[in-house]
Amino acid sequence: MSKTETIQAIDASSFHGDKSKIYSKDEKGRLVLSGEDAESKYAHFLPTWDPNEKFGPLEEFEFSDPGLRADPTFPNLLSKSNTNLKVKSLTPKFGTEIRGVQLSELSSAGKDELARFVAERGVVVFREQDLKDKPIDWLLDYASHFGRNHIHPTSGAPRGHPEIHLVYRSATAKASEHSFFDEHISSTAWHSDVTYERQPPGTTFLGMLDGPETGGDTIYTDTQEAYYRLSKSFRKRLHGLEVLHSGVAQANASRAAGGIVRREPVENFHPLVREHPVTKKKALYVNPQFSRYIKGFKREESDAILNFLYDFTARAADIQVRASWEPGSITVWDNRRATHSALVDWAGLDGSRRHAFRLTPQADIPTEGELSDDDE
Ligand SMILES: [Fe+2]
Repeated sequence: MSKTETIQAIDASSFHGDKSKIYSKDEKGRLVLSGEDAESKYAHFLPTWDPNEKFGPLEEFEFSDPGLRADPTFPNLLSKSNTNLKVKSLTPKFGTEIRGVQLSELSSAGKDELARFVAERGVVVFREQDLKDKPIDWLLDYASHFGRNHIHPTSGAPRGHPEIHLVYRSATAKASEHSFFDEHISSTAWHSDVTYERQPPGTTFLGMLDGPETGGDTIYTDTQEAYYRLSKSFRKRLHGLEVLHSGVAQANASRAAGGIVRREPVENFHPLVREHPVTKKKALYVNPQFSRYIKGFKREESDAILNFLYDFTARAADIQVRASWEPGSITVWDNRRATHSALVDWAGLDGSRRHAFRLTPQADIPTEGELSDDDE
């Protein structure tokens, strides 16, 4: 398995597994799941890959973060009259778990507050949600409050709904998991989603449809806290740097695995230090899956800085949270601040598949903002 395939195999969006057992072609030439995998309570969410579905380049669109309109006291999202509300900080600065709020029932003002609250906490796990029972069109309309729904270039999607990104790992793909761990010691693959786009996602939703009893957690790292942990001198050095983010390896890996490429891959430079439009806080906007090099630096110089940032954020357990899944859980995170990785630690143990849907609204063109007193 090549380096790029390895990355792709662990990116949960990938086209993977023993294709002869898991996939077949339907009458229109689309790849669909077959056998046990074709059966699900959430059959309309099962992934399909249509090689004939092609899209042109994404066009720039105007974006204003809904969090900017939000009441900072969150009167709708965290209403004081809601006696069922339970809000638990997972760590002091990063991550919250909420029970007693139904995301599907939020008003427009409540959704604005959600965007702001998620920006302030990085990642929020909502329990006992009914979004998975809503029609797909309804979900896409809901997500469009937070930005333009992104169409993923390579991932499986429900038939006719390429704007839904599906995470799917077959219960029958055990053999391929074993061969992965024959060659690798960890499935951790830190990334922020599709950062190669000119306007990458901000507020992002992942809902579990079917998953193991235990395992398959998602881990998140706070790249905002990571930035402020660095010395002022080092932060100052990082300011002004731009990093290339590339979707080429992902597209190549999909083609090599017999998957699809809906839209030709793009590459974009983004500032290494990114300012959040709502909180005005800075974060390190790099990830080993899509970031490639720092503009204007020689290769070794770029590698030294990027690898330092990847290594330190990957092992800093004191800026991370681990989100577990329960039936109905929806995790909402801000892709501008939280990097994440799925954990493949259950495969081959309990015969479960892992099936989740992601709503991925695109947000602002990343900007660095001014170097402030806090940053120097
Ligand atoms: Fe992801």
